[in-house]
Amino acid sequence: MKLDKKYWKNRYHDKQTRWDIGFASPPLITYFDQLINYNTKILIPGCGNAYEAEYLFRKGFKNVYILDHVEDVLLNFKKRCPEFPSDNLICDDFFKHTNTFDLIIEQTFFCAIPPEQREEYVQKMAALLSSKGKIVGLLFDTKFNHKGPPFGGRKKEYELLFSNYFTIKTLENCYNSIDPRMGNELFFIFEKQY
Ligand SMILES: C[S@@+](CC[C@H](N)C(=O)[O-])C[C@H]1O[C@@H](n2cnc3c(N)ncnc32)[C@H](O)[C@@H]1O
Repeated sequence: MKLDKKYWKNRYHDKQTRWDIGFASPPLITYFDQLINYNTKILIPGCGNAYEAEYLFRKGFKNVYILDHVEDVLLNFKKRCPEFPSDNLICDDFFKHTNTFDLIIEQTFFCAIPPEQREEYVQKMAALLSSKGKIVGLLFDTKFNHKGPPFGGRKKEYELLFSNYFTIKTLENCYNSIDPRMGNELFFIFEKQY
């Protein structure tokens, strides 16, 4: 199974989008609500319907960028949130994108990437962050018994994977997950080491 742009476009077209919770994820809202610098340059890669971006934007964060390789989701987002600047909608392959951000938000993007590309994901995240920038978000703390995404993982694996480039500031059981993910999700803050 090739998890390319066509695969994801078809998932949206066929409405096979069980990952899509339909609103900004509560643990991320809790994190956003304590941020004080509204100029922070934020990227949400593999954004899908990007409810978190809408939340941030409506709260006053104007330097928010969303990235997905499926154009349709970006067009839908623009319909839902027409005031969001078109220049901040990035239709690109995450692995090919070049720019730098202060903060990157992870929400069911890592679990969509084939496990053999995880090392590349971590390197790319580091490359996309400014000095001491952070990735913040959620990771599954469970293994799945099916082929294809979502791909699960465990805390120990994530520690090993990310610690080459990032300082693990927080990686803990998430207390405010949505019900279907409760007990199977970790909230994390990783800071780039250089
Ligand atoms: C499981 S969905 C999650 C969407 C969104 N984060 C959410 O929580 O609803 C994964 C998303 O990543 C996008 N994606 C997967 N691989 C990508 C890549 N290499 N570059 C850009 N987007 C990618 C897919 O198109 C899809 O929208």
